[in-house]
Amino acid sequence: MADRVRRKLRVLFATAEAVPFVKTGGLGDVSGSLPRALRKAGCKVNVILPKYGSIPQKFVDQMKHVADFYVPLSWRNCYCGVEKLTYMGTDYYFIDNEGYFKRDAPYGYFDDGERFAFFSKAVTESLQQVPELECDVLHCNDWQTALAPVFLREFYKEAPWYDTTKTVFTIHNVKFQGQYSEDLLHDVLGLDLTPAASQLRMVDSHGNRSINYMKAACLYSDTISTVSPTYAKELQTPFFGEGLDYIFRERSWCLHGILNGIDTEEFDPATDEGIAAKFTAETLDAKAENKRALQEELGLNVDPTRPLVAMVGRLTSQKGMGLVTYAMDRLMSRGVQVAILGTGDSDIEDSLRYFDWKYNNQMRAIIAFDNNLAHRMYAGADIFLMPSEFEPCGLSQMIAMRYGTLPVVRETGGLMDSVEAYNQYTGEGTGFRFANINGDEMADVLLNACEVFWTQPEVWRHLQENAMAEDFSWHKAANDYLDMYHELHPEVIRYNVKR
Ligand code: GLC
Repeated sequence: MADRVRRKLRVLFATAEAVPFVKTGGLGDVSGSLPRALRKAGCKVNVILPKYGSIPQKFVDQMKHVADFYVPLSWRNCYCGVEKLTYMGTDYYFIDNEGYFKRDAPYGYFDDGERFAFFSKAVTESLQQVPELECDVLHCNDWQTALAPVFLREFYKEAPWYDTTKTVFTIHNVKFQGQYSEDLLHDVLGLDLTPAASQLRMVDSHGNRSINYMKAACLYSDTISTVSPTYAKELQTPFFGEGLDYIFRERSWCLHGILNGIDTEEFDPATDEGIAAKFTAETLDAKAENKRALQEELGLNVDPTRPLVAMVGRLTSQKGMGLVTYAMDRLMSRGVQVAILGTGDSDIEDSLRYFDWKYNNQMRAIIAFDNNLAHRMYAGADIFLMPSEFEPCGLSQMIAMRYGTLPVVRETGGLMDSVEAYNQYTGEGTGFRFANINGDEMADVLLNACEVFWTQPEVWRHLQENAMAEDFSWHKAANDYLDMYHELHPEVIRYNVKR
């Protein structure tokens, strides 16, 4: 039997967020743990991201200056410093330009379109200027890095590495595409006289014209991926595709759906120092102490017989918050406890504050970003609710399962791929699912879950054990990414012949 020996590929992973330096959502978590897993799976990975003003000083102090040069952006030449820091064995490179990035938050500014055009151009320019960043695969993530594959193909045709550098574009959320005024084509991108101009342009159904960074990335990248197999299918439909579905259908031959993993070391009830009592699937009884402590901390009635339903995440309509506020009175009338942690749209925050006031010792809304409390909620709750309208992957439902907290999810994206529905005939499953964006249907399924909790404790325990036994590590995903990279580099260096 012959065994192919693959070359060790060099990957440059470009992202706008990476834990522990900066995070606003799941992109930060994924970029924090995937590169390490890729390295373990057998490639050389460098990560490149902006040097924001909000990066903690202790990391800034460890950065070493590697290079500086000017990045051409239309008629401008912008300063670009490259600084390096090694964290847990992975090399991170930070793009330094204080005018663009020394601000309090990563996004939310009038010139975001220009800031991330600069970042994307700085990435391609680094391939040219910083020899240690040369790579076989440039792996870009979401709209903030979407112009890099476009710049690469339009401006670097003469570069010796042009043909050997392949590009991958990963979509973490198609809702955010980076749409800006057409003026940027000439004024900022300098792409107005290239073929990219027409690929960037977009006209919506109302006749409004714009340019769209993600659209261009999907057309220019050598391959596309997204963060779950179901979302890869959903993207090809008008409901989920957000105007780009026709591109995903046309390029479905190179659209990969790879389910994210989670950091199984950070989220481990057996070793988590931040929770009231550590536990494993074998010592599940100790989970009760976490529930008691959480009820007490949140000012809910301390009562083991009340199912405690938790939600942690962004409070936006994407996350199905409309269904939750719709169904709240019904859930409360059945004696369920609900605890919600997160920040988001102010109308949703306000309705949750109202329920918190109305059902004082039965419902708690903590309008904050609090990672430590999140751990205590994953550990202490019985049920984790995630009724998202769409969910490219979703990480919280996997974290909850690791803590023996059973998820109730809508059947979409990564929720569909990570939660196996409870089957009352076989007693198998890892959680509960409902199909439609409908508050009554959600409440029906959630109350059904409560019924199992109340009346069939041994079934509940079995589901908890199933959920805790699932493998949500990055191991499988990293190997799938590696296979995808190698599809772009089919060359094999030698065959090992086994006898
Ligand atoms: C985005 C998506 C989320 C996904 C995360 C990481 O935040 O909304 O579903 O888990 O990216 O890929």
